[in-house]
Amino acid sequence: MSNFTIVKKKIENFDKIISVSGDKSISIRWVLFSSLASGVSTAKNLLISEDVLAAINSIRKLGIKVILKNNLCKIYGKGINGYKYKDKLILNAQNSGTTGRLILGFLIDTPKKIKLIGDSSLSKRDFKRVSDPLSKFGAKFELNKNYTLPLFVQGSKNLNPINYFEKRGSAQCKSSVIFGGFRCNGKTVIKAKKSRNHTELLCKYLKLPIKIKNKKNYDLIEVKKVKKIKKLNYNIPSDISSAAFFIALTVLCNNSKIKIKSVNINSSRIGIITILRKMGVKIILKNKKVYKGEKIADICVESPSIIKKINCPTNLNSNMIDEFLVIFLVAAKANGISYFKNLSELNKKESPRLEWASKILNLMGIKTITTNDSIKIFGNPKLEVKKKIIIKNFLKDHRVFMTSVIAAHAFGGQWIIHDKNSIKTSFPSFLKIISNLKK
Ligand code: S3P
Repeated sequence: MSNFTIVKKKIENFDKIISVSGDKSISIRWVLFSSLASGVSTAKNLLISEDVLAAINSIRKLGIKVILKNNLCKIYGKGINGYKYKDKLILNAQNSGTTGRLILGFLIDTPKKIKLIGDSSLSKRDFKRVSDPLSKFGAKFELNKNYTLPLFVQGSKNLNPINYFEKRGSAQCKSSVIFGGFRCNGKTVIKAKKSRNHTELLCKYLKLPIKIKNKKNYDLIEVKKVKKIKKLNYNIPSDISSAAFFIALTVLCNNSKIKIKSVNINSSRIGIITILRKMGVKIILKNKKVYKGEKIADICVESPSIIKKINCPTNLNSNMIDEFLVIFLVAAKANGISYFKNLSELNKKESPRLEWASKILNLMGIKTITTNDSIKIFGNPKLEVKKKIIIKNFLKDHRVFMTSVIAAHAFGGQWIIHDKNSIKTSFPSFLKIISNLKK
């Protein structure tokens, strides 16, 4: 099968109810917690994508049995010290920064050297951000000269608790250090810039030794050694980062409506809703409920008559870090110049996304002014693309692919978008949902 997609026509207006797949962050965390739990944990609606499979295959290599049938998954945890460390063990996080960075936290006491590898995109990304704090606990790391994968970790029996200031707003760094703190006697203290808090909510639900004080701009987290994790049955809600593509498509089309069912609307993840409301979009949250500490709702969106420009408040950045590409598309149709700043982290994702956003917008005929951490987007409410656009060589970044498909359906033109298989990373049913919107 060809590994590209061709879009030749704008989508006609739609009024649909859809479901998107399970939340990637929660799916990976569920896999990791369950791997160290005592007993069998079951998940429904687990995201079955390459990133989550990377987490599952990693725990399998650590001796944990996993049974996966449709989207029901059972993990046979053997307790907090239940990992089996074979000689010359190699774990492959593939494309998943979350798997690679989080699992290292649990490996700081490994008695044997473990090698962590990833695909070519993950092998370009920074791992010093986790090896630095984790080595302060007493584990030893050997990294590539650019602080990238492959790396080796060798744990220690004499671990010391640490004080750590997480300044980037990275949930991966924060979670990795929380997991490290769980392995070690004494009190680890983390001051963390606000970021998604699924790890903390799961810890609280599992009654693990964690204390959290929420301050205005950061959280103070204290963790102690974990003796036991109880089994964790979980019904994974849908992923707002996947819903974001259809929220944006509805905003960019005329006279369209969508309802996306049972989406995780954790307040640390809904920056896209906050920002689109500021841009004049009507978004209603229905059937709100709380499940194991996570908020869930149906998201209802209607196409607005006009999109307002935005000077995006930087305190929302980590709340919508994975949604910027589609938010930039919305800004491309706004009435005026929108400005997004302090975004250096965006160029450190699966591809340099700030650069890619700018390239795609320029190909569509939108003017941008981009620095290494900001972008100004000169919106055009009448934007119509009439030319041929080819998108390729974007390091197979799933979100670049899906954003380009949304742009093609919203603005027209003739698009050839390469690396279709990239959707397997986070959202394998993406193209199927698009074609159902056309029926
Ligand atoms: C994630 C955190 C974010 C996000 C990634 C998933 C997580 O990364 O971009 O897709 O599940 O913790 P950073 O922690 O690097 O910001």
